[in-house]
Amino acid sequence: MSVSIKNNQDIVKMRVAGQLASEVLDYITDFVRPGISTEEIDKLCHEFMVIKQGTIPAPLNYAPPGHTPYPKSICTSVNNQICHGIPGPKILKRGDIINIDVTVIKDGYHGDTSRMFYAGEPSIQAQRLCDITYECMWLGIHQVKPGNYLGDIGYAIQNHAESNGFSVVREFCGHGIGKVFHEEPQVLHYGTQGHGLELKAGMIFTIEPMINAGKKDIKMLPDGWTVVTKDRSLSAQWEHTILVTQSGYEVLTQSKGTPQEPSFL
Ligand code: MF3
Ligand code: CO
Ligand code: CO
Repeated sequence: MSVSIKNNQDIVKMRVAGQLASEVLDYITDFVRPGISTEEIDKLCHEFMVIKQGTIPAPLNYAPPGHTPYPKSICTSVNNQICHGIPGPKILKRGDIINIDVTVIKDGYHGDTSRMFYAGEPSIQAQRLCDITYECMWLGIHQVKPGNYLGDIGYAIQNHAESNGFSVVREFCGHGIGKVFHEEPQVLHYGTQGHGLELKAGMIFTIEPMINAGKKDIKMLPDGWTVVTKDRSLSAQWEHTILVTQSGYEVLTQSKGTPQEPSFL
């Protein structure tokens, strides 16, 4: 099994797909308020992707081995939901935090990105969890350069999460991406410096840490997709798609509304 190295034409197309995925998040930002349901958010994103962008929502009917086909176009994971929350009648209330995860396909290539959003004002602890998780993603991104190892990324993320009293979800990870949604390598959000795969220019993968305010343990809901914290604590996640360049990294999932890098880095 091997990790693909993307050529120039692949990279040009991955930039386009990445920017389009990010623009879906820009578009939905102002709709995320108390009173909207997650299925309304899904419908707005679906129509934006299909009608405005001419992209295909990759999650819709996605069916990896052992899973029923995913029924919606995006993932919406609220509060104690870690990932793969299925949009439905749940109405956002003041103080809720929500991860919206968008993957588009354009011209055969995937762009995958997610951000945290807040319905009204989050609590101090919820805001802190989301901020630290964002810093975790960026500390991971900063480890991306040829000659570094996947373990350097995982270590940086785990160290920051745990030194702030949070925990790292183990069952889900970042992934290689291109013409295929989920391909090698697996990008763990925990690990040991200098261990694992050595990074090479032309690799493209996501970094998407899921960080829990409480313990790391997960539970799967009966819908077969929605993953929640076992102790019902809050969970946060951010995701970018990253290209390994000759000198470091390029974030492919960028657009006008992409939040800035944390200033302390
Ligand atoms: N976008 C998710 C990821 O970051 C995968 C969602 S798969 C779905 O890898 F089927 F749940 F949508
Ligand atoms: Co992903
Ligand atoms: Co995603």
